[in-house]
Amino acid sequence: MLSNLNFSVAELRSHFPILNQSVNNFPLLYLDNAATTQKPQSVIHAICHYYENSNANVHRGSHQLSNRATQAFEAARLSIKHFINAQSSKEIIWTKGTTEGINLLANVFMGQLQAGDEIIISALEHHANIVPWQMLAERSGTVLRVIPLAADNSLDLVAYKALLNNKSKLVSIAHVSNVLGVINPIKEIVRLAHQVGAQVIVDGAQAIAHEVVDVQLLDCDYYLFSGHKIFAPTGIGVLYGKQALLEALPPWQGGGEMIKSVTFEQTTYNDLPFKFEAGTPNIAGVIGLAAAIDFINGYDRQAVQHHEQALLTFTEDALLGMPEITLFAKGVDKLGVLSFSVKGEHPTDIAMLLDAQGIAVRSGSHCAMPLMKTLNCGGTVRVSFSIYNTLEEAQRFIEALKNVIEMLKE
Ligand code: ALA
Repeated sequence: MLSNLNFSVAELRSHFPILNQSVNNFPLLYLDNAATTQKPQSVIHAICHYYENSNANVHRGSHQLSNRATQAFEAARLSIKHFINAQSSKEIIWTKGTTEGINLLANVFMGQLQAGDEIIISALEHHANIVPWQMLAERSGTVLRVIPLAADNSLDLVAYKALLNNKSKLVSIAHVSNVLGVINPIKEIVRLAHQVGAQVIVDGAQAIAHEVVDVQLLDCDYYLFSGHKIFAPTGIGVLYGKQALLEALPPWQGGGEMIKSVTFEQTTYNDLPFKFEAGTPNIAGVIGLAAAIDFINGYDRQAVQHHEQALLTFTEDALLGMPEITLFAKGVDKLGVLSFSVKGEHPTDIAMLLDAQGIAVRSGSHCAMPLMKTLNCGGTVRVSFSIYNTLEEAQRFIEALKNVIEMLKE
């Protein structure tokens, strides 16, 4: 399948200065986009421009620079509201990233859950969507339940239905697996959870860059993502939550910004979204994230999605044609990511030999050790695409991998 070229990949790619370099005397081929994406010039420029022209603290000053910074900061919040179709910008909380967002929720749910209440996660979660819930379970006496995988490594929905009961209070689930690329049926997961009164938290870290996310359509209660996976800087992320639910939750961290009034006797908390934003935020990160959203909105998202899907399909088909390769979750709907192993070879050796040819992939357990146990392997090689990758790059990757396998046979 050829890319749908309603947009020019070459034009889009030209906005990413880092891609135009050699690594180990080969042109860089960056296929580690699930770990972090590269940044377009406009994002780099927005951050520099902010520091060169408007750097000041937000919501605190009565001077020109602070007003300018505050305006850009809140305009960014509005831009995220539109990007994920939230009902109100009060539902957009800035975090450091997905991990911090999940930790925030796990902490504020502490007083809301009782011993014996159940939290459901799945076998394909990233550590960031496992460990905070284990920590909460330890402190609160709540019980962690895990949805297993079906034989094809997609989520076992029959088992999920069987896990749901009136003790289920939270379901916390990845939208897209960071290891397998498997897309979870979030709408259905939410519908079933709501039938028993459970709230649903969606880890959108891997989905956000690859598909149009509409939180109202999904009807999820919370949705989290990290800026750096969507062309923005590291250290900035978003926690979306339905306004009524966020209002009912206590704050997490205490400090400036999250209060209305403080005396030594009593503190009253600020309204949303500030109740959850103690301390000076990552202002430059927020501005960089808004620039990244502007960048993406400058392209036809459907055409971009088709292009990415064409890269994935081409690569998946080629890997399936290689007898030495075991591809995980073959035939299952996936986004952005493919994971495989090479018979008899360590994934890190494969990754290092690819790196010697200028090709960046990730190897190992990808912060998902329980999933490795389920897959019965110590680690995988993971290739992950972004909108700037080309079909020629996918072809080059396959040729390089074939060479590596031949070399290791000798
Ligand atoms: N969570 C990121 C990954 O999957 C770092 O690579």
